[in-house]
Amino acid sequence: MRCSCGLAGAVTAVVGALAVRAAPLKRSDSSPLPDDAVALIKQRLIESATDTWTSGTYVEALLELDYPELSVFSSSSGTYPPPSSASPPYEVESIVASWASKRPSWTKELAYENGGAAADPAALGVGWLVAAAFADDDTKAVYLAQARQEVNYLLNSVPRTGDGAISHRPPGESPSLWADYVSMVPPFLAYYGVATSDRSLVAQAYTQIKLYRAHLQSSSSGSWKHVVGGGSFEDAGLWNTGNGWAAHGIVRVLATMQASPWSESFANEKTDLADWATEILTSAFSHLKSDSLLPNYYDAASSSYFSDASGSALLAAAAYRLAQVSGTSSEYLVETASTIRSAVNGKINQSTGWVSPVVNPLSFKAQSSASPEAEAFLLLLEAAWRDYYSSIASSS
Ligand SMILES: *[C@@H]1O[C@H](CO)[C@@H](O)[C@H](O)[C@H]1NC(C)=O
Repeated sequence: MRCSCGLAGAVTAVVGALAVRAAPLKRSDSSPLPDDAVALIKQRLIESATDTWTSGTYVEALLELDYPELSVFSSSSGTYPPPSSASPPYEVESIVASWASKRPSWTKELAYENGGAAADPAALGVGWLVAAAFADDDTKAVYLAQARQEVNYLLNSVPRTGDGAISHRPPGESPSLWADYVSMVPPFLAYYGVATSDRSLVAQAYTQIKLYRAHLQSSSSGSWKHVVGGGSFEDAGLWNTGNGWAAHGIVRVLATMQASPWSESFANEKTDLADWATEILTSAFSHLKSDSLLPNYYDAASSSYFSDASGSALLAAAAYRLAQVSGTSSEYLVETASTIRSAVNGKINQSTGWVSPVVNPLSFKAQSSASPEAEAFLLLLEAAWRDYYSSIASSS
């Protein structure tokens, strides 16, 4: 019913028109975050990344920034376990060990949070598998069994919509689809598929993204609504961070697919994923405000149209990653990502490391001066920016 052809064509036309005007890329457009800023951001995360999804996002950021050989954005990520020459990711191992020690024996999830989303603990999944690869044999067997239980829980215990989209919310609640889901679950399903040589799970990651897009994409733009279905809580607004979660999750699955042994057989799926990330990014970046940040909700009449450095950082990270992975992304997206990155990094308090203004991650329409997930997004953005420019340097 929802034909992507018209919109995809329109997006391509817009991108093409803008690409012609884009200035040539210059590395001098921005410089790396200073080491002391990175250290402060990590310190804030060590203190504040206590929720499952924030901790999982921090783990992803550590892999991308400090252990790039272990991230899905490296060309060696299609093999599991990772190369034995890779440095052990100590911080990741310690975060996973901490969650594993708190995990109640009766749960099927990687972590249990009373009242929490079904999707959120899966955000720890990629880190869990990477930690397993570096663990002693007994711990490895435990971690792999826990990851398998988590996959079975997601596929078999969590409710679904009639067309098969797995709910973001747990059993006992009616199916509810959140854009956030796309960063929590599909990247883990895809990576678990690579780790266990199960192509069907990589395909399932793609299918879930396709279904989520069908439910959440706005009828008037490429942006996604935040929450649809479930009855108790819906949010049809176009939330900046939700669009970031969707775009960044899509690009992680694309990278996982591309490095997998089945890359060629997923040619159509990879094209779709690149198109879907492009739709989200092109629509989001059209809302850039005069301070070079994106608004928390895209409706200019909304009372929460305030500038949000958090979702802006995540979307800019997704744009660099799309350009790196697809090799064909428009200069418009990369130029806008660069503009956003300069603005976001300029909003980091040099004595605390907190970036602001940001949305309150627990109250989607409220502004805050500090957000744990925003700190993780800063590191994802830094890694994406660095890897994008090194991919250009090595291909020219
Ligand atoms: C940075 O944070 C400190 C501590 O909260 C605050 O006193 C200071 O005003 C902030 N600096 C800027 C430039 O906002």
